Amino acid sequence: MRSSLTRPGLRKIASLILLLGLLALSQAAWAAHGEARPEKRGVLLVAFGTSVAGADAAYVNIEKKLKEEIPGVEVRWAYSSKIVRHKLAGGEKPVKLDSPAEALAKMMDEDFTHVAVQSLQTIPGQEFHALSETARSFSGMPKGMKKVAVGLPLLATTQDLTRVADALAQSAPKERKVGEAVVFVGHGTKHPANVYYPGLQYYLWKKDRLAFVGTVEGSPTREDVLAELAESNVKKAYLVPLLAVAGDHAHNDIAGDEPGSWKTVLTKAGIACVPVLKGTAESDAVAAIWVDHVKAALAQLGTDK
Ligand code: CO
Repeated sequence: MRSSLTRPGLRKIASLILLLGLLALSQAAWAAHGEARPEKRGVLLVAFGTSVAGADAAYVNIEKKLKEEIPGVEVRWAYSSKIVRHKLAGGEKPVKLDSPAEALAKMMDEDFTHVAVQSLQTIPGQEFHALSETARSFSGMPKGMKKVAVGLPLLATTQDLTRVADALAQSAPKERKVGEAVVFVGHGTKHPANVYYPGLQYYLWKKDRLAFVGTVEGSPTREDVLAELAESNVKKAYLVPLLAVAGDHAHNDIAGDEPGSWKTVLTKAGIACVPVLKGTAESDAVAAIWVDHVKAALAQLGTDK
């Protein structure tokens, strides 16, 4: 300090040059550490998953529709069910499916900056809320994605319910005759979002008085539906899964031959049953609603860099 007082001009210039040099270096290092990362957008489709061979045709249909609507979109997949993932990984032809967190971590590593996570659940129940929390924890993670948005499940807004009611009414089996019913059987849950099933029934009845909604584990129960069928004097019903894919629940709880299945119980009650083993995601009209939810999630990501 004393010497700088003796030759102040020269010292000051020297330290200024040094300071500027350091600044330039640190700026270069800052830029090299990826601040100017190019934007990379992608979609992560998240389903519960299925280990039933061929049932994933419904998932394939959603991806196909999405790619038709948004050409060039980067799509990744995750299954939220650990049981299903482990079953697939341990099968004869092992298939490795990611959990939502694994898939998001991989997308981080692949330098995605903006990701729309789309729930392929039917209602915003437990599975959807768990997915939202996972997605939220990845949004803005250091060295990761700048933004992650979550697309709503099939039934979310009132407009979704009217659109789904339309789509289901249209997709009812063509061979169905007057007086024959169609029963859409969903999963059902103790979660408050179970109310979407009776909600959907309201809009479905506006389209078709002989179209019913039931659930395996919630309300309306099978007894509720049986009472409605009896009141309408129905003698034949088509049983259609209100599930994205016709997996385990569709094959066993709805269409199975075991004593507790919908087919068995309704048949015993004098109603001839025709199970239709197709997931809702196989219907283009239903898939279109999910695709619109992906678009809304992408829009939510905005255009900020
Ligand atoms: Co289940």
